[in-house]
Amino acid sequence: MTQNQLDESVEHLKSKGFSTPEIGIVLGTGLGQLVNEIENPIEAHYNHIPYFPLATVEFHSGKLVYGTIEGKKVVVMQGRFHLYEGYDFLDITYPIRVMHQLGIKKLFISNAAGAINLDFKKGDMMLIEDHINLQGGSPLAFKNVGEFGDRFVDMSEPYDTEMSEKIEKIANSEGISLQKGVYVSVVGPQLETKAEYRMLKTLGADAVGMSTVPEVIVANHLHLPIVAVSVLTDECDPDNLAPINIQEIIEIAGKTEPKMVTLFKELIKEL
Ligand code: HPA
Repeated sequence: MTQNQLDESVEHLKSKGFSTPEIGIVLGTGLGQLVNEIENPIEAHYNHIPYFPLATVEFHSGKLVYGTIEGKKVVVMQGRFHLYEGYDFLDITYPIRVMHQLGIKKLFISNAAGAINLDFKKGDMMLIEDHINLQGGSPLAFKNVGEFGDRFVDMSEPYDTEMSEKIEKIANSEGISLQKGVYVSVVGPQLETKAEYRMLKTLGADAVGMSTVPEVIVANHLHLPIVAVSVLTDECDPDNLAPINIQEIIEIAGKTEPKMVTLFKELIKEL
């Protein structure tokens, strides 16, 4: 990754009309509906943005959408890049750097995740308070990282407490139940064994998924305040583990999505 590449990506988007968005939003698996709330949308398909990772077949609909929600200028990633698609850490976090250079001042992240904490049920949402990186690498482990900021990035408080408190209040007043906990990231794409779910619980995780953490690390590198919410799509009970049903995961994400849209819209309104 070079600064020139970032400049070219950003110039392309600016020439399409992506001018100084305030908020960047990453939408996870089955959580694309927020784009329908965007007024005066301008779309840029990932395949057409210079230096964006080339989209895989499964993922060809990925796009950045710019416009306004609740009167605020936003840029929304509909679909993200994952390590399990064969991309590397720099690829999957490149869009975060592009949105930052476009001018975002805050980042919202959503994902679908499995519930490790068995007090949580599928269809619940969880505010991510902290995380554990089990993806075996870092998006900051590259030679010229110094050109982009610090190498030894502080992670004592990776999620913004102010926005997190606001979203909790919104959940309360909207009657939406919002759990809180620790998200652990794994590479995937295979799901976990019973032994692995037991291990993740022992490690202190409340939810497990295959994304988000690299994006959060890079956003911290860029000093971008983050709020992140998981939609819990399956219950990871090692003593009673049903075979994974991807169709059901997507269905549950879809059913929970309207609540996610409400939380994010109301938060945008309050910022
Ligand atoms: N494990 C990992 N990733 C996931 C899961 C899970 O159980 N559910 C949704 N994403």
